[in-house]
Amino acid sequence: MVNTYKYQSSDNIIRLVQVTDPHLFQDEMSELLGINTQASFSQVLQEIQESTFDYDFVLATGDLVQDSSEEGYLRFCQGINKLQKKVFWIPGNHDFQPKMFEILNENQGNISPLKHLLLGDFWQVIMLDSQVFGVSYGELSQHQLDFLHSKLQAYPERYALIVLHHHIVLTNSAWLDQHNLRNIQEFKQIVTKFPNVKGILCGHIHQAVDSEWFGIKMMATPSTCIQFKADSNNFALDAVQPGWREIALYDNGFIETSVKRVQKAVFLPNMLSDGY
Ligand SMILES: [Fe+2]
Repeated sequence: MVNTYKYQSSDNIIRLVQVTDPHLFQDEMSELLGINTQASFSQVLQEIQESTFDYDFVLATGDLVQDSSEEGYLRFCQGINKLQKKVFWIPGNHDFQPKMFEILNENQGNISPLKHLLLGDFWQVIMLDSQVFGVSYGELSQHQLDFLHSKLQAYPERYALIVLHHHIVLTNSAWLDQHNLRNIQEFKQIVTKFPNVKGILCGHIHQAVDSEWFGIKMMATPSTCIQFKADSNNFALDAVQPGWREIALYDNGFIETSVKRVQKAVFLPNMLSDGY
């Protein structure tokens, strides 16, 4: 069985788009805290298609569906396939893995089940499953830690981008930080052994973060639906618009990235919502 996706490129720059946390429902009219998640997801996809960013791949980083529904996962597939790019994905805390794996693995167009990518001559991308079934916080199982370690060890000359749903850098929001990755120390022990790890990319926190963690670029990305207010100890929403992230991986290990937001529509959540 082939476990690694290999991409040969004459261009030394690998470009990716990340979409995260669409939280789709069985009913395409359903709202999450006042936002129709299907409509905002579709708008994000449309604006990605209209953008001039010439990317090669899409990374979908979890919480694809809110209510475990087959219809939600099918609509995710239909939507993301419109981009006509290879798509790689990981689960988030809200995903129902039996349904998710069944539907996304049934060869839905360009959607790949592979979690290890060798992109061009200089990069590898390692996609980890940090879900703990039934809870909001995350943890990397021994299997996931071993997978991470083995790929970093196998390709030490390549720069690495590690992708997982949960956040590892605290957001200064107590309600959200209790839902972080729990075994950060074990993750750190592996990652910091390999100087070519250049980036860590997550979803989950529904806000843009661009920071650094032990010399590694740390990125979190707005959801395609509701946004959580930054630096708020209690649950609060933000009226900033849904978005996505563009990433360019250079042949010298540099990561160029920017967060984009919906420009051609307005999605306003119910700002009085007091929980999620
Ligand atoms: Fe989410």
